[in-house]
Amino acid sequence: MTEDEAQSELAALARRLAEANRAYHTRDAPEISDAEYDRLKLRNAALENQFPHLKRVDSPSEQVGGPLAEGFAKITHEQRMMSLANAFDDQDISDFDDRIRKYLGMSSDEELLFTAEPKIDGLSLSLRYEARQLVYAATRGDGKVGENVTANARMIDDIPQTLPDDAPDILEVRGEVYMSHADFAALNEAQAASGGKTFANPRNAAAGSLRQLDATITKSRPLKFFAYAWGVTTAPLADTQFGAIDRLRALGFSTNELTARGSGPAELLQHYKSIETGRADLGYDIDGVVYKVDDLALQARLGFRSTTPRWAIAHKFPAELAWTRLEKIEIQVGRTGALSPVARLQPVTVGGVVVSNATLHNEDYIAGRDSKGQAIREGKDIREGDWVQIYRAGDVIPKVADVDLSKRPAEAQPYVFPTECPDCRSDAVREEGDAVRRCTGGLICPAQAVEKLKHFVGRAAFDIEGLGAKQVEMFYHDDILPVREPAEIFTLRDRDTAAPLQKLKNREGWGDKSASNLFDAIDEKRKIPLNRVIFALGIRHVGESASALLATHYGAWQDFISAMDAAAELDGPAWEDLIGIDGVGSVMAASLVRTFQQEAERASIDRLIAELDVEDVAQPEITDSPVQGKTLVFTGSLEKMTRAEAKARAEALGAKVSGSVSAKTDLVIAGPGAGSKAKKAEDLGVEMIDEDAWIALIDGIG
Ligand code: IVH
Repeated sequence: MTEDEAQSELAALARRLAEANRAYHTRDAPEISDAEYDRLKLRNAALENQFPHLKRVDSPSEQVGGPLAEGFAKITHEQRMMSLANAFDDQDISDFDDRIRKYLGMSSDEELLFTAEPKIDGLSLSLRYEARQLVYAATRGDGKVGENVTANARMIDDIPQTLPDDAPDILEVRGEVYMSHADFAALNEAQAASGGKTFANPRNAAAGSLRQLDATITKSRPLKFFAYAWGVTTAPLADTQFGAIDRLRALGFSTNELTARGSGPAELLQHYKSIETGRADLGYDIDGVVYKVDDLALQARLGFRSTTPRWAIAHKFPAELAWTRLEKIEIQVGRTGALSPVARLQPVTVGGVVVSNATLHNEDYIAGRDSKGQAIREGKDIREGDWVQIYRAGDVIPKVADVDLSKRPAEAQPYVFPTECPDCRSDAVREEGDAVRRCTGGLICPAQAVEKLKHFVGRAAFDIEGLGAKQVEMFYHDDILPVREPAEIFTLRDRDTAAPLQKLKNREGWGDKSASNLFDAIDEKRKIPLNRVIFALGIRHVGESASALLATHYGAWQDFISAMDAAAELDGPAWEDLIGIDGVGSVMAASLVRTFQQEAERASIDRLIAELDVEDVAQPEITDSPVQGKTLVFTGSLEKMTRAEAKARAEALGAKVSGSVSAKTDLVIAGPGAGSKAKKAEDLGVEMIDEDAWIALIDGIG
């Protein structure tokens, strides 16, 4: 074979394999068989072997998986995939039991059963069966939209392709994909031998193996699956959680044999202990025990908070520990100006993960005090050069837990926390009652601005494809096309068009296509839901779920911003309305009001909004809900359901529940003992009903 022939065959192979990947992954409609695909890949490898210098830049052998730029297709979960709240000690478990009883109005002597099962340390997957055939598999993603990994899931032996005749017509089975210790060790060994990527732990290996654009790679990786939950189903699986797991097993799924049933915290904790004792011999990673209310009717009454069920909790195992040398203490400046001390460590393995950085929280923590001035670590301070104990729990940032004074170098000096910003040299001050020292530079501080921008483009905020932390940093320091505030992201294309020579496409690392892709991706996000905009602003104390609450409460940007302006009048009606939102406290409210009152900050936000088309967030529409969009106030004591349940029901029916009566209140539900709120409602002429009328009103809806 001549070089020319080899070159043209390599080109043809690259084209055919790319097309096969697209057909298989993006369109889910394979055009060639797996065997044919493997044959083409082998032929390509052989040619590259024979003519190494002809290897193409887009060589199929270099691609782990299919065309990365296209990624996985997205799947919207018909029913959201939830996360779990965490518990860390025995007290948290008895609080969990108390909370549920309180919510349901159950006394402490009534029997309340729970299931207890291992919390598998893998990644969750939703499998949808229609007419007993597996139609798709999707990762959790953000809970609402996941990635279509159907082709990959079909490679997992534990996942049935078809279900028996008695299975429901539509059934979504949820569970965890994981890798055993033995398979993980073998995989890493093989990867190392072939010069491939090795994985830090079985969880990463499982995630990396499932999220392969090339499903043939998934096939070669030994993944397993435990089923532990379900989403949509056209026929109930059972009356109890325990029964439902049994049923899943009967339908052909692997379920965890350590699943048990117990009543009350004492029995649950006993099972926790026994699972923890056997943990090392299981052969796969678990990171805790999950407790779930057994009675499915009670689960339905308890329902969900924004991202977690009220009826379940994950009891995490204690963290893992290791000792190492602290080489240096560095200060990072966050988006709200917080100066965060970070320990740079001599790398050490903690629970299978290599750790080289740990948080030191704040200056008091370094000095050996808590926020109230009480000694922690028996008052031992932390110094550069110290021998320190590192603590890691799950995915959280590792911490420095302890110091070994006997190993302290003679020359080690107490750490002096800076009183000015290491980046912009503005004063860094601590407000009273705040454990954190903050840079006062505001918008002039580059570190704050860059962190704000990184937050702005983050996944739960604007999530602009091709504009991540790295690119934001680059644009921030760019002299010709600078992006120093969010609005400037949206003027990039126009400024690029106007730039005479130094257009983005002419820069190193960029080309015509990547530049225009970026501008398109930016334009795509001009239209964006209100909750994402609020979250993206990066206001202190205002996280993702608070942003969602604010967005549903105010509905539209204009209403939101007017309300924030009006709320600047302390204790006025707009302020009362703001702190009346369940989940919004006075600290968060003050932070919101303060942000929009700051002139420079506000001008920057206004410039951003002018570039956007902010989508209104609708109240959840419930057809024939009598309280849709209404503002309700509960007062006095309720007897048939608890206040929490009443509130959750009302909100599920599209009502807003407020803590105080105002002219905006539509309906007051007053139980015995109602006082000043009932009086105020009367004065304002607001409609008032009792609990029975409330129950009659909502009976059978929602
Ligand atoms: S139940 C609606 N059970 O833990 C409740 N989750 O930290 C859905 N997980 O996203 C979850 N083992 O990926 C449940 N036995 C188990 C689990 C489990 C592992 C994962 C799951 C979830 C995450 C929350």
